[in-house]
Amino acid sequence: MTELHPEMQERRILGTELLWAFGVGILLAATMSMIVFTALTMGINPPSNVERIDPKTLHLSGEFAEYNLGTTVAPDGSVTARIIATQFMFVPRCIAVPQGRRVTLRFAAPDVIHGVLVTGTNVNTMVVPGYVAQVHTQFTRTADLLMPCHEYCGLGHSEMWATVQVLPENEFKPRPDGRISCAQR
Ligand code: CUA
Repeated sequence: MTELHPEMQERRILGTELLWAFGVGILLAATMSMIVFTALTMGINPPSNVERIDPKTLHLSGEFAEYNLGTTVAPDGSVTARIIATQFMFVPRCIAVPQGRRVTLRFAAPDVIHGVLVTGTNVNTMVVPGYVAQVHTQFTRTADLLMPCHEYCGLGHSEMWATVQVLPENEFKPRPDGRISCAQR
């Protein structure tokens, strides 16, 4: 290599550094704007609900007791589905939800960390024992959507999945107590 004058060398180093800084700056800007864009247009953002629940007793009483699981329509019309993720199943195995309405999904786990996603939607969260995982979404098309566990939770992990039955508004008819189960087809 030809010897450069120290001052020239300094300049060359500065030039290369600035080029890299520029490149990294562009990458950062692109990543940040992607995050902001998907958050604003597609409702994709990290679950931010911090709500504690005792994993040892959650099935005994309160919100996640067996009789309270599944979909409930409150008197104000809001739709909430409560699901337990446990080795190796979801309880209940099928939840009915209405198309085109805001739905709140609430998950809790009594044993280990599970993950849940609903195929083709923005629903995707971890279910960590000790916390309630909550997501809001709106299902745009009527379909039976697969809801698998996507966090390895033990030997039966691959058998752990449930169905989200998205019903058209005219078929989404809760019972007088506000409860609704999947339609048998
Ligand atoms: Cu539960 Cu994997």
